[in-house]
Order: sequence, then structure tokens, then C-alpha cells
Amino acid sequence: SRPIHVVVLGAGSWGTTVASLAARNTPTLLWARDSDTVAEINQNRRNSRYLGDVELAPALRASNDIHEAAHSADVLVVGVPSVAVRETLATIAEDLRAWVPVVSLAKGLEPGTRMRPTQVVTDALPGHPVALLAGPNIAGEIARGYAAAAVVATEDENIATALHPLFASGVFRLYNNDDVLGCELGGILKNIIAIASGMADGLGVGDNTRAMVLTRGLAEITRLGVAMGADPRTFAGLTGVGDLMATCMSPRSRNRRAGELLASGKTPAQAAELLGQVAEGIKTAPIVMELAREFDVAMPICSEVDSVVAERSSATDAYRGLHRMLPDGGH
Ligand code: 13P
Repeated sequence: SRPIHVVVLGAGSWGTTVASLAARNTPTLLWARDSDTVAEINQNRRNSRYLGDVELAPALRASNDIHEAAHSADVLVVGVPSVAVRETLATIAEDLRAWVPVVSLAKGLEPGTRMRPTQVVTDALPGHPVALLAGPNIAGEIARGYAAAAVVATEDENIATALHPLFASGVFRLYNNDDVLGCELGGILKNIIAIASGMADGLGVGDNTRAMVLTRGLAEITRLGVAMGADPRTFAGLTGVGDLMATCMSPRSRNRRAGELLASGKTPAQAAELLGQVAEGIKTAPIVMELAREFDVAMPICSEVDSVVAERSSATDAYRGLHRMLPDGGH
């Protein structure tokens, strides 16, 4: 029978990495906005802007034509930043064949609607089954072939099981979870805690402080998640504490690096410019604070990060604030 064709939209670091994983298993096409990126992938098997000298799967093909790409998809992977998901999918809604499953990679909330990316997918492409791929997955490490694991979260177990052979490998292990809300929130909320962790490192604090930020950060993530209806056990898994640890500790994390830049006195705009990539936590922090108020949940670490990204306070002030607030944060 004809092999399943995977199409990935978005050639940033993670979209490119997931496309390269899939290309080892099945025909895979990566849509990139930038024509230099398309040429570099097709000719040199590299995406040097996002993944340096990493060699991509030989079978991976890239294209500039989003309509043709979407039309050829049996499975569509959405690897654009959260703020661009709705617009990108609106562009291809007419091209995509009925019932094609959509896999979301984004880890941020949509400004205005406060929707999670899988909700935006369902909104933009009604009738298509939606799944989420999430976990402690720093793109550069997976692209280099280091072992890692991730979760395919979907309400339909059959879809999850059908997706595994497309993305899994001997060094990339996949698990299923039907708590889409909990898995997705873990990936989204940990970016804000990673900014706090980066700010802590930038200010030169120690490992005890980092452990405090991580542990109390997990408490905040879990409190909001449970208030919104997620299973508390999900936050002890790969998409919860797993992704939190990787992102808070990795020098490669964009969110952690954004925190370090903020601690060195850069404005959020300067930090974004210097990163040259999207640190989702910067735009997500104010939206999470809206949710915290709506669900009446205490989120002192997110609140301090929010005041820094909104330029109401400096990273140093935020750290003073945290030390005042954490002991009373409750559980
Ligand atoms: P970034 O901080 O680089 O976006 O990485 C976060 C992540 O989700 C890793 O799993």
C-alpha cells in the first residue's frame, strides 16, 4: 500500500527536527516560508539558521509551496509559533483533504482567545482529528540523535497508535496520554518557569534556588492545570516535570536564554531580537496571568516573570519579590 505522507509546516528548529525524524520512517515534506532554507535543505541537508551543522535525514524534502504541500498530506504537522497557527491553517484549509490528522507542536497560548494550539487547530480545521506531540525535546539534541522521549496526546487512542511509527525511532521513544489538556498545559506553562530559571542563572544564584524555582514552578503549573480540569498525575510525567527540567536547565533553551538576557538588563524586545527565534514564554506570561485570575489560582513565579516581560519591574526586583512571596505561596 502507498506509504503515509507526512507534511510539516514550519522550518524552525523543532519543525525541522520532527520532519527529519519522520523522513527516516516515511515520505516527508517540510514547508518553509524562506526560499533559502528550502534550497539549503534540499541541496545540503542542513537548516543552518536553526540547527547549525546538523545533518538532516537524506530523504527529507522541503518546499515553498504551502498549498501543494498541504494537499499532499496524509498527516499534517503544525510547527509554526503559537501566534501563527490560526493564520497558517486558514491558508491551507481548502487544500487539506478530509479526515487528515493534525499534529500540533506549538507550546504557547493564542493572544485574545487564550486558546491552546490544539483548540486553535480544531477551530481552524473542524472535523480533523488533532493530536499533540510534547515532552522534554530540546530540538538540537534530538536532531543530533541523542536519545529522548515524548508523548502523543490525543483523545483517540487509535490515532495515537497510528502516529507512533511515523515519528518514533530507536532513540526517540513515544508514549500515549489521553489527557490532552494536561499535556499541552505542561508544555506551555513550563516556558514561563524556564524564563524565571534563566533569570536566576543570569543573576548568579545557586542550584538550591534553581531547584526551588523548578519545584515551586511545578506546583503553580499543577494548581492551574487541575483548576482547568487536567489530571494532576500528568504533571509528574514527561510533558510536566520532564519538559520543565529540560527547559529550565538546558543552555540551549530559548526561554531560559530569554530569562538570562532579561537578567542582564535587556528589554523583552532586545531579548527577542538577540535570540532571533521565538521564546514562547514571553508572550504567554500575560495570558497565563489572566487564566490565574479567572481560575483564582496563586502563581507567584509566573506573576514575577509577567511583570518583567511587561517591563513593570527588573529581574532583580522580581527575584526580591519571589523571595517575599514563595514562603506564602501555599501548595
Ligand atoms: P525552548 O525554550 O527552546 O522553546 O524549548 C522549550 C521546549 O519546549 C523543549 O521541550
